[in-house]
Amino acid sequence: MPPLCPMQSATCYLNGEFLPLAAAKVSVLDRGFIFGDGVYEVIPVYGRKAFRLNHHLQRLQNSLDAIRIDNPLSNQEWQQIIDTLIEQNEGDEQSIYLHVTRGVAQRDHAFPAYTPATVFLMSNPLLAPEPTTVALGIKAVTLPDIRWLNCHIKAISLLPNILFRQQAIDSGSDEAILIRDGMATEGAASNLFIVKDGVIITPPKGSQLLPGITRDLIVELAQQHQLNCEEREITEQQLFDADEIWISSSTKEVVPVLELNQQTVGGGQPGPVWKQIYLLYQAMKQELRNGQHK
Ligand code: PDD
Repeated sequence: MPPLCPMQSATCYLNGEFLPLAAAKVSVLDRGFIFGDGVYEVIPVYGRKAFRLNHHLQRLQNSLDAIRIDNPLSNQEWQQIIDTLIEQNEGDEQSIYLHVTRGVAQRDHAFPAYTPATVFLMSNPLLAPEPTTVALGIKAVTLPDIRWLNCHIKAISLLPNILFRQQAIDSGSDEAILIRDGMATEGAASNLFIVKDGVIITPPKGSQLLPGITRDLIVELAQQHQLNCEEREITEQQLFDADEIWISSSTKEVVPVLELNQQTVGGGQPGPVWKQIYLLYQAMKQELRNGQHK
């Protein structure tokens, strides 16, 4: 048997109880297990404070509404659970995984009546890469976006996304950039930005991509600092013609893509606009650690 992973002793939360991860058990009839019937959030924690928690809780509400699960907890209750989880786990920087399913019921595609939702949260270490490592960038490949048209829902059923990511890795890359109807949408687990002639461009929010919290923050930071930023479609051709390409997510922050389909992007160096946004993002994190804002 492979050794238990060290995280097994970490404290998690399951349906009202804080307990070691190794002791947390869910029924095999849970609809999350049977159907992938649930939604999730990943919330970064800096200086033991959840970053942009209200934004994550609002997106959780939107995802729950979209799949018709009543939110089992109030925002205050979510906040309390998350604060306790942060307190009970090691590390000033953590990543909180939050997961809600439609609960345990006899297997039937139709929704069960009166079944309480399953609520599970765990904390993972958040290992933000060193600035020098981030600046090495990542490699990406384009893949056809074969997902459904509800990509704005942060659904736990991630089969296409894991296959995209694995296909990228199998071809020697780190991330897949998805193409639907000739447009670049997002990454397997990240949002997409390009820079062309000094203008930052990211696809508009809609059913074809997840409204990333990091994406929104980058747009906000760009606007606050008078950087040119447009939310509009990116054609496949524009992606290949870009001066800079970045991907963003709560765990990866904002990372330059320096190779796309084995072709160098931006001369193989991170661009000046990425550098600016990266530094602004780091400053935000530092302000949160200093207790200046949420
Ligand atoms: N994923 N698009 C997809 C498909 C994602 O799965 C993610 C994040 C993002 C970026 O969203 P945010 O900035 O809110 O993290 C975009 C998380 C990190 C995950 O599945 O682990």
